[in-house]
Amino acid sequence: MKEFLVETFAHHRTLIVFLHVISAVIWVGGMIAVRFAAHQSLALISDPKLRLERAAHTLKRLFTIVTPFVIILIATAVIMAVGLGFRAAAMDPSGNVIDEYAMSIYNTVHIKEAIWLVMSINLAAMIVRRKRAEKALQEGKLEVAKDMLGLIGKYMVPVNIVLGVTAIFIGVVLRNAY
Ligand code: HEM
Repeated sequence: MKEFLVETFAHHRTLIVFLHVISAVIWVGGMIAVRFAAHQSLALISDPKLRLERAAHTLKRLFTIVTPFVIILIATAVIMAVGLGFRAAAMDPSGNVIDEYAMSIYNTVHIKEAIWLVMSINLAAMIVRRKRAEKALQEGKLEVAKDMLGLIGKYMVPVNIVLGVTAIFIGVVLRNAY
C-alpha cells in the first residue's frame, strides 16, 4: 500500500497537489461566499418563512457541492503525506526519532489531519441540522428551523472558515519546509 501511494505521488505529483489545492479553494471559498455574500442577501428577505426556506436551500447547495471535495482533499492529503515521506524522514522503522526537524514537520502534518477531521465532523453536524431545519419548515415549526439554521450561520460555518484558512496556511508552511 505504501509503495503504491509513493509511486502514485511520484507519477502524478502535479495533479495530486492541484486536486488538493482546488478542493481547499472550493470548500473554504464556498463557505466564505455563502457566509459573507449569500447570508447578507438572504437577510433582506422580510418574510421569515421564505427567508429560512431560502437559507436551507442555499446551505443544501453548498453542502452538496463541497462534500466530494472534502473526500478528494483527504485522499490527496494521504497520498501526499505518504508520498513525500514525512514519517520515513523523521523516524526509523521501529519508531525512534532520527531527525528532530523532520519530526517537527511530521507533527505539523498531523495537525492538518486533525483540522480536516474537526472540519468534517462539523460539516456532518451542519448537514444533520440543515435537514432537521427543512423538516421543521415543512411542519410549520419556524422557531425550530430558525434555531437549527441560526447556529450554522453564527458559529459552525465561521469555525470551519477559520480552521480552513489555518489549514491552508499550514499547507504553505509545509510546502516551504523541505
Ligand atoms: C487531511 C490532512 C491534510 C494533510 C495531510 C495535508 C498535507 C499537505 C501537504 C503535505 C502539503 C504540501 C504539498 C507540497 O509541498 O506540494 C499541503 C498543501 C496544501 N494544503 Fe493540505 N493537507 C491536509 C488538509 C488540508 C486542508 C483541510 C486544507 C484546506 C481546507 C488544505 C489546504 C492546502 C493548501 C491550499 C495547500 C497548498 C499550499 C501551497 O501550495 O503552498 N490541506 N497539504
